[in-house]
Amino acid sequence: AVDISKLRAQSGLITLDVGYKNTGATTSEVTFLDGEKGILRYRGYSIEELAEKSTFLEVAYLLIHGELPTKDQFDKWGHEITMHTLLHEDMRKIFDGFPTSAHPMGVLSSLVSSLTAFYPESLDPNRSPDGVNLTITRLMAKIPTIAAWSYKNEMGHPANYPDNSKSYVANFLWMMFGMRTMQYEPDPVIVDALDKLLILHADHEQNCSASTVRIVGSSQASLYVSVAAGINALWGRLHGGANQAVIEMLEQIKADGGNVDKFIAKAKDKDDPFRLMGFGHRVYKNFDPRARIIKAACDNVLEKLGVHDSTLEIAKKLEEVALNDEYFVKRSLYPNVDFYSGIIYRAIGIPTDMFTVMFALGRLPGWIAQWKEMREENQPIGRPRQIYTGHNLRNYVSMNER
Ligand code: ACO
Repeated sequence: AVDISKLRAQSGLITLDVGYKNTGATTSEVTFLDGEKGILRYRGYSIEELAEKSTFLEVAYLLIHGELPTKDQFDKWGHEITMHTLLHEDMRKIFDGFPTSAHPMGVLSSLVSSLTAFYPESLDPNRSPDGVNLTITRLMAKIPTIAAWSYKNEMGHPANYPDNSKSYVANFLWMMFGMRTMQYEPDPVIVDALDKLLILHADHEQNCSASTVRIVGSSQASLYVSVAAGINALWGRLHGGANQAVIEMLEQIKADGGNVDKFIAKAKDKDDPFRLMGFGHRVYKNFDPRARIIKAACDNVLEKLGVHDSTLEIAKKLEEVALNDEYFVKRSLYPNVDFYSGIIYRAIGIPTDMFTVMFALGRLPGWIAQWKEMREENQPIGRPRQIYTGHNLRNYVSMNER
C-alpha cells in the first residue's frame, strides 16, 4: 500500500506537465486502466464481464463501496434509492425559471448545486459516514429525476413523477417519455441497452470530470457541488460533450452528400480546426474497450428495434477509412466510447442534446467513488503550481500617462 503521508511530504520540485499528460494526481483503488492493452476494470472486475452480467445499480454499488453487493445489500441499496427519487416541490420553481431553450446540461448542474439549499447539512465537512451515505443515495436517486425533468422542461411538457414500482432505468425512461394520461412500459431491449451504456460510462479513473470532482471536493466543498462541477467539466466537447458532437458531425457529413473522404481530409488539415469527433483518446492508444462493446451492442439494438439509421452507415464508413489512414494510424486515433453511443441513444429515442446528460447519469457513481476515496484518505487541497512567464517587476504608470 502507498503511504499517502510520505507522498504528501515530498514537495519542493515543480514539474511542468500542461494537460497532466504524465502526472499522477493520486493513488486510487477504484478503476484500473491500461491504455496500451485496452484494459478497463472497475474494482478489479473487467468491463466486458460487468457489461455482460451486471446491472448499473450493482456496478454503482461496487464502485462506491468497493465490493459487489450481497443480495441483502443490493435490495437495501435499491430500496433506499427508490425512497429518495422525488424532488422537493420547491425545486420545480427553479425549473420554471429556465427558458425552454436551456441546454439540459446547464439545468442539470444548476439543479444539482441547488440540492445544497434543500439539504444544507451536506455542507458540513465533518459529516458522519451515515450522513455522507444519505447524500450519496440522494444523488443516485434524484439525478435521474432532475435529468428527465430538464427534458420535460425543454419540451414544455408537465413533469412526470417517479414510478417507484419500476427499475432504476425503466423509471428514468418513464419520467422522460411517459405521458400521465397513457400506460407506458419501456421496451426491455431499450432498458437493457441503456443499462449497459450506463455501466460502460460509470467510471474512467482520473479523467477531466473526475479530476474536477476531486479538486473541488478537496477544498471540502460538499459532494453536491463537487458533482455539479463534474457535470460542467463533462459538458465540453473534448470530453462527454463529444457524444452530441459525433451525431452532429455525422449529420453534417450526411447533409453534405456523405463525402467521408472530404471530412477525413479536413480532420488532417492542421489549418482547419475540425477534428473527427469520437476519435482519439488521451490514454487508449490501441483501442477503447468500451467502444468495442458499444459497437456490438449498437448493431444488436438497431436490429432488435428494427431501426435503420443511415448515420450508422456513415459512421462505419468513417471508421473504416480512418483506421486505414496513415494520419490516424500514426497518432493512434481510434473510435472512442462516444463514437457509437450517440447512435444507440438516438435509436432509443433520446434527443441529441440529452446525450451528455445520459453520460452524466452513467458517470455519477464514478464521481462519487472518486470523491469518497479522496475524502476518506483526507487528501490535501488540490493546488497545482506553475512556471511564471510574465513580466518582471514593473512600475505603475498612471492612467493619463499610458
Ligand atoms: N481528429 C483529428 N486529429 C486528431 C484528433 C481527432 N479527433 N484527435 C487528436 N488528433 C491529433 C492532434 O491534432 C495531434 O496531432 P499532431 O501530433 O499532429 O499535433 C495528435 O492527434 C494528438 O492529439 P492531442 O490533442 O495532443 O491528444 P490529447 O490526448 O490531448 O487529446 C482528445 C485527446 C481530446 C480525446 C482528442 O483526441 C480529441 O479532441 N478527440 C475528439 C473529441 C472526442 O472524441 N472526445 C471524447 C474523448 S472520450 C471521453 O471523454 C469520454
